[in-house]
Amino acid sequence: MTPLDPVERHLFLEGIFMRYGYDFRQYAEASLDRRLASLLAQNNMTSLVELLKHVLESTDAFREILPSLTINTTEFFRDPTFFRALRETVFPILKTYPRIVVWAAGCSTGEEVLSLTIALKEENLLNRATIHATDINPRVLKKAKEGIYDISLISSFNKNYVSAGGVNSPSEYYTAEYGLARFNPKLLENIVFSEHNLVTDAPFIEAHLILCRNVLIYFNRELQERAFNLFARSLVFRGFLGIGSKESIRFSNSSGLFDTVDLNQNIYSLKAQPIINKSTLSTRKYT
Ligand SMILES: C[S@@+](CC[C@H](N)C(=O)[O-])C[C@H]1O[C@@H](n2cnc3c(N)ncnc32)[C@H](O)[C@@H]1O
Repeated sequence: MTPLDPVERHLFLEGIFMRYGYDFRQYAEASLDRRLASLLAQNNMTSLVELLKHVLESTDAFREILPSLTINTTEFFRDPTFFRALRETVFPILKTYPRIVVWAAGCSTGEEVLSLTIALKEENLLNRATIHATDINPRVLKKAKEGIYDISLISSFNKNYVSAGGVNSPSEYYTAEYGLARFNPKLLENIVFSEHNLVTDAPFIEAHLILCRNVLIYFNRELQERAFNLFARSLVFRGFLGIGSKESIRFSNSSGLFDTVDLNQNIYSLKAQPIINKSTLSTRKYT
C-alpha cells in the first residue's frame, strides 16, 4: 500500500468532522489508513483531497463511504464461549434484579444483540430486560431493526448457538423464506435501536450490562480511555462490561475502575466506588 500523505489524511478527517460531525481523527492509524486506501481505489482516485471534495459535495456520497470507515463485520454468537460465560457468570447476578438494562454499543447489523436476546430469553431474563442497541452508522441500525438476514448466515448461527450453550433447537428462532431468515419479531420487542457515537456522545443510561465488542480495536489509546470512562459512568455499581477478544482494559488507565470477572472472556465489573476521570468525557471541540 502506498503510504497516505499525512497532510491529506489530516485534511480529510478534519473536513469530515467539520461537515458531518463524525470524528475519526483518533481512530487507530494503521487500520484507518488501510480503509482510506481501499476507498481511494474503489473510487478510482489517488488523493484524499479529491475524495474529500467528492464527499463534501453530497451527503449521499458521505453515506456511501461511512460503512467503509466504520467496519461493520459481525456474526451471530461471535466468540461463542463469551456467551457461555455470560450465561454462567453474569446472568445469575442479573437474575437478582427485578428489572435489567443492557447496552449493546457498536451493535452493527444486529446479529450480536439478537444473540444476546436469545440467551436472555433462555435464562428467563428477557421479559425483565430493556436492551439499548446503538451504533454510529444509521444504515446498519436500519438493517438491525428488521431482524431479517440472508439465509447463508444461518449455518454459522446454528453452529455458534450450540457452542454458546443454546438449549433449544436453533430453528425455533427464525423462519426461512425466499432465501432469507426472518427472526421472531418478539425477540426484537425489548430492543431500542438508536444512534450513539462513542467518540462524541455522553452517557444516556444506567446499565447492568454493557457489551462493546470489536469496536475499541479501531480506536487509539486516548479514545479507548474515553470509551472506558463512558462505560464506567453508564453502569450501575457492580454492573458488567464485556469487550472483544482482541481488546484489553488491563493496560489502560481505566483498569482501576473495574474488577476482572473473567479474564479469558474479557468480562469486567464496575468497582463499588470508582473514581471516574470526567475530563476524558468532554467532547473534543474543533480548533
Ligand atoms: C466490527 S463491528 C462489531 C459489531 C459487534 N459488536 C460484534 O462484535 O460483532 C464495529 C461496529 O462499531 C461501530 N462503530 C464504529 N465507531 C463507532 C463509534 N464511534 N461509536 C459507536 N459505534 C461505532 C461500527 O459502525 C460497527 O458497526
